[in-house]
Amino acid sequence: MNRPAMEGAPLNVPADLKHKRLAAWVAEVAALTEAADVYWCDGSQAEYDRLCAKLVAAGTMKKLNPELRPNSYLAISDPSDVARVEDRTYICSERKEDAGPTNNWMAPADMRVLLQTGDKALFRGAMKGRTLYVVPFSMGPLGSHISHIGVELSDSPYVAISMRTMTRMGRAALDVLGEDGDFVPCVHTVAAPLEAGQKDVPWPCNSTKYIVHYPETHEIWSYGSGYGGNALLGKKCFALRIASTMGRDQGWLAEHMLVLGVTSPAGKKYHVAGAFPSACGKTNFSMLVPPAGYEGWKVTTIGDDIAWIKPGTDGRLYAINPEAGYFGVAPGTNYKTNPNCMDSLKTDVVFTNVALTDDGDVWWEGMTDTPPAHLIDWQGKDWTPAIAKETGAKAAHPNARFTVAATNNPVLDPEWDNADGVAIDAFIFGGRRSTTVPLVTQARTWVEGVYMAATMGSETTAAAAGQQGIVRRDPFAMLPFAGYNMADYFQHWLNLGEKIAATGAKLPQIFCVNWFRKGADGKFVWPGYGENMRAMEWMLGRIEGTAGGKDNVFGVSPRFEDMRWEGLSFSKEQFESVISIDTAAWKQELTLHAELFKQLEYHLPGELPATMASIEERLGS
Ligand code: OXD
Ligand code: MN
Repeated sequence: MNRPAMEGAPLNVPADLKHKRLAAWVAEVAALTEAADVYWCDGSQAEYDRLCAKLVAAGTMKKLNPELRPNSYLAISDPSDVARVEDRTYICSERKEDAGPTNNWMAPADMRVLLQTGDKALFRGAMKGRTLYVVPFSMGPLGSHISHIGVELSDSPYVAISMRTMTRMGRAALDVLGEDGDFVPCVHTVAAPLEAGQKDVPWPCNSTKYIVHYPETHEIWSYGSGYGGNALLGKKCFALRIASTMGRDQGWLAEHMLVLGVTSPAGKKYHVAGAFPSACGKTNFSMLVPPAGYEGWKVTTIGDDIAWIKPGTDGRLYAINPEAGYFGVAPGTNYKTNPNCMDSLKTDVVFTNVALTDDGDVWWEGMTDTPPAHLIDWQGKDWTPAIAKETGAKAAHPNARFTVAATNNPVLDPEWDNADGVAIDAFIFGGRRSTTVPLVTQARTWVEGVYMAATMGSETTAAAAGQQGIVRRDPFAMLPFAGYNMADYFQHWLNLGEKIAATGAKLPQIFCVNWFRKGADGKFVWPGYGENMRAMEWMLGRIEGTAGGKDNVFGVSPRFEDMRWEGLSFSKEQFESVISIDTAAWKQELTLHAELFKQLEYHLPGELPATMASIEERLGS
């Protein structure tokens, strides 16, 4: 079994590996990419430490001061490789209409020639001079009926160590696979082959990038980037794009959602799943500290980015977090915005593209009110507050990240690793909107909730390459992550609602929130963070039928007196400015909904334009 690849790389297949198909596939990819060596990850701490030492020796990472940040590292990427590349991301379904108008598409046969089979196929020889790491991983608790296994073949040791933190990675995942278990094959290269004697660079990558998904065959091929969702293929590529197509075919949901537990002072626990676009506060919300006036309430984290949700035998929807770690945005995180996150980051963290302090620790914009007097910025340059004032240089890249195990989180929910998941009571959908969308609104029906989620708009952030602050439609916060036609995805949500309703089981309530409305001075009116608990309490009250509200053109929103204000000074006028519906703005907003529906007209469920028509009617009257 331990035969070399065609071009001579030793395959180093573990002697006790039972899965012949896996070994054959590794041999095939090693031969195609001409990797110099193959290493099978076991997921142990010793292996992690060894690979981190290798990354330090290569100049990719620096070890941080162990007295200030034990067992932690700072990685610095190439300045051109700092975010997900949506314009280089492809859904290669057999039929273009199955990818839909919101995804880039190429026929799978053509993409395979380009990447894998053509004479000049990009993956041919792409790993020359590098080790191919075999990274087996479970998305979700090991052995859970909701979980799935993947195997990533990557020539990046940074990816291998990050996958250990972000997933259940290594030997245990191979054990779940057994002799013939199914796995999602994920191939990743930084696409920087090394000729004999060629010196490596600290962050190898390629200016040509392809992040490619074959939804029918559940395969992922990623070329040219070593950063985040482009390279850690369990996350966006598998757990959202491929898993959403699996969910469509098998009757479940893969969503860009945090999942949290919230327990009332009376001891009643609810589970809430919340979809927000990238860098809109999912990690903060999932670790929320209830504010003054909310003594006795507790929020616990199940997941901060992705949820897999399946109907249980009782008809209710059960969610797991398929990930095992957090790859969160560092800038803006501090002891006021997210104390639990700050406490999670005390040890065993890999930071990427933040700044280095003179005593060997890290800093990013917003971490402290007063920045250190001197830093080395994420591009290795001297940084001082005076330089920043003069040039606008950021100490940390706006999409700088931390990678840390969920088990570091002091408010990790005891059910976070439950193989059966947790029963969802509410779905929350929230975009980043300076105007128009109210603080919180409850959908009157499942269809109205699907409408709210489908038409959600949000201002773009640094999580994706491209212009920032532009309002774009981001249906269900899934615009960059739906692995199939968005209109079919809407239909799937409608079908699931109908199916659950038919069983007589309780459907989760759907809410739409907006923490980001700004006043005339351009500042956020709503204090956000822990204070979002006030909106959540109102939502729980609606589920219980105890909270009041007012019907408006777009669902039901609280009146001032329907929310609890102890511990916060927030006037009726301020409340009005975050809850009000501006008729003219909504008329304009509906033209944008109509544009989206026009773009998605192939297979668009009729319920959505019908819901729009009734909003229009209410606006007119
Ligand atoms: C993420 C993202 O990394 O959404 O979670 O970009
Ligand atoms: Mn995300």
